[in-house]
Amino acid sequence: MTTHTISFIGGGNMAHSLIGGLIADGWPAAHIHVTDTKPEPLAHLAERFGVATGSDNSAAASGADVVVLAVKPQVMHTVASEIASAAQTRHPLIISIAAGIRSADLDRWLGGNNAIVRCMPNTPALVQSGATALFANTRVGDEQRDLAESILRAVGLTLWLNDEALMDAVTALSGSGPAYFFLIMEALQAAGVQLGLPEQTAQLLTLQTAFGAAKMALESNEDAATLRQRVTSPGGTTERALRVLDDGGLRELVARALTAARDRSRELADQLGN
Ligand SMILES: NC(=O)c1ccc[n+]([C@@H]2O[C@H](COP(=O)([O-])OP(=O)(O)OC[C@H]3O[C@@H](n4cnc5c(N)ncnc54)[C@H](OP(=O)(O)O)[C@@H]3O)[C@@H](O)[C@H]2O)c1
Repeated sequence: MTTHTISFIGGGNMAHSLIGGLIADGWPAAHIHVTDTKPEPLAHLAERFGVATGSDNSAAASGADVVVLAVKPQVMHTVASEIASAAQTRHPLIISIAAGIRSADLDRWLGGNNAIVRCMPNTPALVQSGATALFANTRVGDEQRDLAESILRAVGLTLWLNDEALMDAVTALSGSGPAYFFLIMEALQAAGVQLGLPEQTAQLLTLQTAFGAAKMALESNEDAATLRQRVTSPGGTTERALRVLDDGGLRELVARALTAARDRSRELADQLGN
C-alpha cells in the first residue's frame, strides 16, 4: 500500500477517472485530496470515493508528495502561481495532464527547479482505456517516475518519451486520435445505411468491428499490415474496397491530417506558454 499523499487540483472529468482508477488499484482514499472552484464535483468525489476535498489549492499542494494539475490549460498559469510557494517549500512531484503546456513554462510559473512529469492522456482514459505519453524533466528521480507511471496507468496504457518536443506528435496521434476513429465509424455506418442496412444494424456492426479489430491487433504479435493482408484474399471483396481507399489517397490524407494537428499543437503551446 502506498504511503504517498496526492493532491488533485481540479476535480473534473480526468481527475474523476484517475481517482476512480487509483482507488480501484488500492490507493487509500485517505491519501487523496481534491480541490476545485465548484462544490458539486467535490461533493460527488467525496461521496463516491471517500476522498478529502477543499477549495484552497495552495493548502492542498503544501500537504502533498504529488500534485496532479488537472485543470484546463487556460487556467494553468493562474493555478501554478497559486501553488508556487507551496511547491518551493515542499518540492512535491508535479504531474501535469494539461494539453499543450510545456514543462519549462510550468516550471517557470512554479518558481523553478521543480520535478515535473508532463502527460498527454486521451479521452478513453474516461473508461480506463486511455493511452498516455509521459515526459519527465531532469529533476524527476526514478522513484518519482515510477510513481507518475503508476498513477497514469490507472486509466490505461502508459509510454515514456525522452524528447518533450514529441508531445506535439503524440497530441496529433493519440490525443486527437479518438476523434479520427469516431469519424471512420460515422463514415462506415453511413455507408452501411446507404447500402440498405437498418441504422441500428449498421451501427452495431461498425462498433463491434472496430472493437474486434483493435482487440485483435493488440493481442496479436503481427503488425497491422500483416493482419490486413491476411484478411485480404486476392480477387475478393476486401481487396476491391482497399484499392478504392488507396486510389483515393487515404494514407496521404492521414499523414496530412496528423501534420496539421501537430502544427496546431505547437502553435497552442507557444500561445499558452506566454
Ligand atoms: N478529458 C480528457 O480526456 C483529456 C484528455 C487529455 C488531456 N486532458 C487534460 O486534462 C485537463 C483536465 O481536463 P478535464 O476534461 O478533466 O477538464 P474539466 O472537466 O473541465 O475539469 C477541470 C476542473 O477544474 C476546475 N477548475 C478551474 N479552475 C480551477 C482552479 N483555479 N482551481 C481548482 N480547480 C479549478 C474546473 O472548474 P470550472 O468548470 O468551474 O472551470 C473543473 O471542474 C485539461 O488540462 C485537459 O487538457 C483531458
